[in-house]
Amino acid sequence: MGSLMSEFERYTVTAALPYANGPVHIGHLAGVYIPADIYVRYLRQRGKDVIYVCGSDEHGVPITIKARQENVSPQVIVDRYHAMIKQSFEAFGISFDIYSRTTSPVHYQTASDFFLTLYRKNEFIEKETEQYYDEEAQQFLADRYITGTCPHCGNERAYGDQCEKCGTSLNATDLINPRSVLSGKTPVLRKTSHWYLPLDKHEPWLRQWILEDHKEWKTNVYGQCKSWLDLGLQPRAVSRDLDWGIPVPLENAKGKVLYVWFDAPIGYISATKELTPHWEKYWKEPKTRLVHFIGKDNIVFHCIVFPAMLKAHGEYILPDNVPANEFLNLEGDKISTSRNWAVWLHEYLQDFPGKEDVLRYVLTANAPETKDNDFTWKDFQTRNNSELVAILGNFVNRAMVLTHKYYGGVVPEVTHIGEYETEIQQQLETLKSCIEDNIENFRFRDALKEYMNIARLGNKYLADTEPWALIKTQPERVKTILNYSLQLAANLAILGEPFLPFTCKKLSQMLQLPASLCWDNAGEVNILSTGHRLGKSELLFEKIEDAVIEKQLEKLHQQKQQSESNGPTAAPQKPAVSYDDFSRMDIRVGTITHAEKVPKTKKLLKLTIDTGIDQRTVVSGIAEYFDPEKIIGQQVCILANLEPREIKGIISHGMILMAEDKDGRLEFVAPVTTVAPGSQVK
Ligand code: 2FM
Ligand code: ZN
Repeated sequence: MGSLMSEFERYTVTAALPYANGPVHIGHLAGVYIPADIYVRYLRQRGKDVIYVCGSDEHGVPITIKARQENVSPQVIVDRYHAMIKQSFEAFGISFDIYSRTTSPVHYQTASDFFLTLYRKNEFIEKETEQYYDEEAQQFLADRYITGTCPHCGNERAYGDQCEKCGTSLNATDLINPRSVLSGKTPVLRKTSHWYLPLDKHEPWLRQWILEDHKEWKTNVYGQCKSWLDLGLQPRAVSRDLDWGIPVPLENAKGKVLYVWFDAPIGYISATKELTPHWEKYWKEPKTRLVHFIGKDNIVFHCIVFPAMLKAHGEYILPDNVPANEFLNLEGDKISTSRNWAVWLHEYLQDFPGKEDVLRYVLTANAPETKDNDFTWKDFQTRNNSELVAILGNFVNRAMVLTHKYYGGVVPEVTHIGEYETEIQQQLETLKSCIEDNIENFRFRDALKEYMNIARLGNKYLADTEPWALIKTQPERVKTILNYSLQLAANLAILGEPFLPFTCKKLSQMLQLPASLCWDNAGEVNILSTGHRLGKSELLFEKIEDAVIEKQLEKLHQQKQQSESNGPTAAPQKPAVSYDDFSRMDIRVGTITHAEKVPKTKKLLKLTIDTGIDQRTVVSGIAEYFDPEKIIGQQVCILANLEPREIKGIISHGMILMAEDKDGRLEFVAPVTTVAPGSQVK
């Protein structure tokens, strides 16, 4: 795939700016920072002009919420987490050229100028709308400061911008029973005016650019963009009424700041400005390949909103690819900061000093590239013991130890090239080009697999030829075998650097490889010359015992329990309702007679319910918890006289009652023994 590389003169690689409102965990590393790091390390090795930029995303409402909880200023929060996140990334060898932050002066200037350019070009529309205002707290409420009931699935803890249960994007005014997070009071609507980016105006070129010109984008990315475009784009506000953020740089904009999703991606540009005075060539020259590494929740912002901003500005290039990953789960459950269900990087570094590459390896081997994936401690142990130790470590160790034993640590000569050696040379070339092809196409798992196949090849070679047995009968042959084995080890040191930078550095030292060697030298069996003296042999990896893994599992569960006991175990009681209000609700027992997934949604099932009154259609946000085939015949309670509502084009006649625990898990509410459909629940 050399041709792919030659189209571009340089690369601007960005990794999503993490919010500085908490430490980073394995999900961040697996989804964004490791894949991007592999990509840039590879490009650097190929001698490409590449920059890798990132930084902390220090605005946004969650940061102000955290600050309020701790009774400190938001700056205190972002200072704390910026330092912590930066340190974790460094420790894992994430090789940013710059890790900046969005509270930096350069960023304030860059984001303000960007806004002004769009404003002066008439790229915004100004609109007055009514937004929720908390009269007690005397402030407009950002979406995350409002909770209420989702009109689509009935989740009572939906936020003003999104229902996390059914995934629907919401406007705060869609919420039923809205409440202010600040005071708990019902907010009132007040007029406020904001600037909007008219995405609808950009839709035609975005359609052509994504759906026609970028068919090569990963299917998860392409599919999500297509759904957004097919739904029709709407103008998006780029400002907010908030006291934390970059002030809107206009006279008449007191109390208004840039929306965090307007300023954050501009952070990539600001970081580049901080990095180099030649920043413009990385953002403005068409021969630059701009690649955004992100998680799937950021797709719309990087594929639609930010490109529309860049286009509206007029001077910038657009991303050539946005290889977004899906999510990483942990021990079968969603990673959650609030439930403390996570492996935090700063804790891993303490618990496993010197094993940074082990985590890099496991997270790459198991990366959520095409679907959500699961990290388990057991798998971590197995991959360490059966792959890193038994395959890579073992091969290198045998080659090194035997050379020290038979030849005093000096690379022996090749005495005769047989069929096996020719085969090794050919396979090595193929594996190298597979690694390249996979990395260039963002398939890092496959690339790593092919890399490990080089070590497998080496192990097989040693096992098949048995130099330890031949040394007595055919000592000349052993020289060739160990020479070839060491050549493979040298290849492993070069080709593995993007994945396992610490290990490969150690291996290079063991082999005493000249620093000048790079990717182009690999794929060959002449890296080490005869007579070259090796360094000391050391073990690259060590076995991880069961007790260590058990301890981590225990810690994980303890963490979760602790966070549960810190908070209330149940949601607070809602305000009283009259008996009349209650009796107006017609709740019936019904039986599910048919169930199917609503196409193009993850969470919705279309159910047919025998209510005793009729057979009716109900759309319910339970698809993540229940398999449609397995719930046929299930009795349910249904609020039968709820006004019909249209959900994804289907009219839903009622709502299924579900029991929901604090973690959002759902269970049907049903009679203990079967009753006749239509029975009333009173
Ligand atoms: O989702 C997030 O964590 C955001 N802070 C990502 C921002 S990416 C970019 F646009 F800055
Ligand atoms: Zn919902």
